[in-house]
This record gives sequence, structure tokens and C-alpha cells, in this order.
Amino acid sequence: MQSRLPDPSADERAHSDRLLQLLREQIASHGPLPFSQYMERCLYAPGLGYYSAGKAKFGAAGDFITAPELGELFARCVVNAVQPVLAMLGDEADFLELGGGSGAFAEAALNALAAAGTLPRSYLILEPSADLRERQRERLRMNLPTELNARVQWLDRPPEQDWQGVLFANEVIDALPTTRFTVLGGEVYEEHVALDGEGHLLRIDRPADALVAGAVRHVERDLGATFADGYRSEILPQLPYWIQAVAGSLSAGLLLFVDYGYVRREFYLPERDDGTLMAHYRHRSHNDPFYLPGLNDLTASVDFTALAEAGNHAGFGVAGYLPQAQFLIAAGLQDVFEHAQAQVADEHSRYRLAQQVKRLMLPDQMGERFQAMLLARGIDVLPLPAELLAADQGGRL
Ligand SMILES: C[S@@+](CC[C@H](N)C(=O)[O-])C[C@H]1O[C@@H](n2cnc3c(N)ncnc32)[C@H](O)[C@@H]1O
Repeated sequence: MQSRLPDPSADERAHSDRLLQLLREQIASHGPLPFSQYMERCLYAPGLGYYSAGKAKFGAAGDFITAPELGELFARCVVNAVQPVLAMLGDEADFLELGGGSGAFAEAALNALAAAGTLPRSYLILEPSADLRERQRERLRMNLPTELNARVQWLDRPPEQDWQGVLFANEVIDALPTTRFTVLGGEVYEEHVALDGEGHLLRIDRPADALVAGAVRHVERDLGATFADGYRSEILPQLPYWIQAVAGSLSAGLLLFVDYGYVRREFYLPERDDGTLMAHYRHRSHNDPFYLPGLNDLTASVDFTALAEAGNHAGFGVAGYLPQAQFLIAAGLQDVFEHAQAQVADEHSRYRLAQQVKRLMLPDQMGERFQAMLLARGIDVLPLPAELLAADQGGRL
């Protein structure tokens, strides 16, 4: 499969080799790395990881395209859906975006929030990658009016003081370093990355610790069945702690997560017996996490039942769960699209807007592969669009 993937430049290969060397040294001195730690280094090792180094990543010149990168329609719909919550919370409400990517969402969302008259007190961005932070800063400085740009602040860590408002994250949970597990002879094992005699990376299974084994047993109990021998998949045992860390200080407001994934019984289908791990390299998807480490994005789908449980655990109730296509319709995509069409004069721009809608909506593109989950707390009657509540599929969780 690797032969079908485009070749890296000599510089890119040298960059990947530096990360590979670092991984080899770590494994040689500390022993095999749990897969989650391997993925963490591949994505976030300072200066070398996929998100920490200066690669293009998003858009046509990168490796994949996200909904905010397609154009402004997605962000305008998200703003339609959440702005009644911001309006209800009043002048003190903030908007916190996790993982701002190229800054495309922040730019479109701030313009839409200003147009709706519901600008948050601050637009906060929590972005672990110093490289992406810089790109976001530059993009917003260049493209936003000064009074909007002045509301943007980058955080080094989640807010520690209680706050109110909306937390939004598109395609962030799929980028959290995932644990890979398997079940062998009735016991839970965790996938690790080791070295063979020639220094090549290789995957091995070691008995899981209590945290991983407990998380896998919880899924089995919830599904009412044990995993077949040799079944292999992903799990995020740290998800409840992560939600608590990023949203624990939100005293009143809404969390909105959009990502690709499934409810638990679809995530752990018996036939999906090698999990959902994917690598993305220049718009090709493949499943070899050892191919050019640091140059590939590594992701795993989201178990939305686990996200709901983690939210509940942190004191949030599920306010809505629905496929992206239905979320966008309920959030007024038709009007947003017609308005955007009326603003452009040339055929090419109209065509591009229509293409954007297709990518966002078609079931085999983002429409049904992506889901939106809304979690709320501290609000008696949540002012969400009636269409959104009507389309809720939370019962499937
Ligand atoms: C696939 S990109 C999505 C970017 C953007 N949201 C979009 O839709 O275009 C994943 C983003 O999540 C960020 N990220 C990864 N782990 C994170 C964490 N623990 N907290 C906040 N952001 C994180 C990455 O640095 C990157 O900006």
C-alpha cells in the first residue's frame, strides 16, 4: 500500500527520520511504548510531531480537509446553533475553541457572531501546538477587524476560574492519543511499539494495566457481550479526565463536539476487529501508523457513548446527538447557503458554495460520518433551535 502513497521530499524524509531516531532511543532506553504514547510523540513531539512542526496539514496543500477549511458555511451554522445560549448568558459569556487548526473556524465564527450581535466577551483558543497558534494569530491579525481580533486570547491551559459560555471542538477528540487493546485468551492486552533486531518499529501486545483493562471491561459490560479472541480496537481510558480538565470550570453553558464516530455498539461492531485507526498523508488514507512518522496525521474515530459518559461524569447532560447533516439543517444551513449565494456574483463562487454543501452534507462525505454532540450544564431551559431538538438521536447512545 505504501508504494501508492506520494513520495516525501528529501527534507521531509530527513524530518521523519529525526523523529524515528528519537522514538528508537526512547524505546531502547525505556522499553516498548504504549501505542498511545507513540501516537502522542508522532503528533506532538516538540518541533518534530505532525501538529508541532511546520507542515501544511490542512486544506488542498495538506493531508486532509476539515469542515471549517471548506469555507464559512459550517462556522455560520455552528454560530446559529449556539448564539441563543451566548445571548441568554449575557455580557459575561465567553467562547472557547479547542484545537483551532489553521484559524479558519475562529475567523468565520467571529464574523458571524458579530453579525448576529452576540459577540462573546472573549474568544478563547486552547491550542497545544505552538506552530498552529502562530498561524492562527497571523491569520486572524491579517483578516479580522481590530475590534474583533482584540477579543481573541490564546490559553496555555484550560480556564481555572469558573466561566460561562460555549466550548466548541471540531475534530479534536479524534486527535487525542488513543490506546489500542486486544483480548487474548480472555485477558486484556495493550498494544505497544517495540523494536525488532534491526531497529524497525514493531507492534507487540503486553498485559494491560488496571486502567485500560477496567475501561475495556466497562465497554463489554455495557455492550452485554465479551470481545471475541483476537478482537482489536481503540479506547480512550483518559476521556473522563480530559473532559473534566477542559470543561470542569464551565459553570453554565454548552459543550459542542463535532467529530467522526459512532455510538458504542456501532464502534465496536464484531466485524470492525482492527479498530478505526487511520493515517492521513496528502489526501490519501491508509492504516500503517509506522509510515513516515511525523509526516502523517494519525486519528481514531470517537465512541460517542464514551463521550456522553465522560460528560455525565463531569456533570454535563447530553442535550443533543445527531449526524452532522441533520445538525447543519437544524442550524439553518438552507438560509446560510442562500444568503451566501446572494452575496457572490460569479458562477465559479456559486459552484464552490454548492460543492461545499455537498462535502458537508453527503452521507459518505461528512454528512453521516460526522456527528455533533451537545452537552450542557447550569442552564434550566436550554435555548436550542427547535429543529435541533426534534432531530435529536440521543436515545441511540
Ligand atoms: C484535526 S485538527 C482540527 C483543527 C480544527 N478544529 C479544524 O476543524 O480544522 C486537530 C486540532 O486539535 C488540536 N489538539 C490536539 N489535542 C488537543 C487538546 N488536548 N486540546 C486542545 N486541542 C488539541 C491540534 O493541535 C489541532 O489544532
